[in-house]
Amino acid sequence: LVDGPLKGRRIVVTSGPTHEPIDPVRYIANRSSGAQGTAIAAALAALGAEVVFITGPASVPPPRGVTVHPVETAREMAEAVDAALPADAAIFAAAVADWRVARQSSRKLKKTGGGMPALEFAENPDILAGVAQRKTARPALVVGFAAETDDVLEHATAKRARKGCDWIIANDVSPETGIMGGAENAVTLIYKDGHESWPRMAKDMVARKLAARIAEALGGPAAD
Ligand code: C5P
Repeated sequence: LVDGPLKGRRIVVTSGPTHEPIDPVRYIANRSSGAQGTAIAAALAALGAEVVFITGPASVPPPRGVTVHPVETAREMAEAVDAALPADAAIFAAAVADWRVARQSSRKLKKTGGGMPALEFAENPDILAGVAQRKTARPALVVGFAAETDDVLEHATAKRARKGCDWIIANDVSPETGIMGGAENAVTLIYKDGHESWPRMAKDMVARKLAARIAEALGGPAAD
């Protein structure tokens, strides 16, 4: 661990997509690369934090200097987050699947000639909302993301209140922005009584700016 303003602080970061199995060889996934979550974990570790990095199957490797907990499904991610608490802060950068397949088949689904199989879905736990609304062991700072394609500020502001987190980092993931899977991000930081929009910059820079903000919000290194 390095010396820095987050020394002695334990921070949980979720990142990447989740995979929700259909049968032993197929799954439902999303386009998250894990790039922004990975950059955030690296930036927090660089400021001295003890980072617990809980990641779905991402397309970028995890950063050095963090404890990595690989998971596959949303439910596994929820369990790993619970097990990682208590923590000073929790940053939810994962693109968690909202639904899983209700009944996974233990055998590969086959073409039967009788038309397509109908998949039924069950809702996954909202990991961010669960942690933000905890009565015990709620981290002092809970940060969520809101990837939106329209009315970004309005939707993300409502999302912050609904989920009960302290900050939401909102971004526009419309295909024409090239943000999802790309190297840059343009975000708006939304807090309880206001917001600020940051110019478009590298995801690494967004991560460093956010890590500095988190250090400021936690009020410097832990006293011991
Ligand atoms: O509701 P929505 O998926 O847009 O919320 C996005 C935020 O909530 C992200 O911070 C994401 O990591 C988190 N989330 C979660 N568990 C879910 C769904 C979203 O932690 N099941």
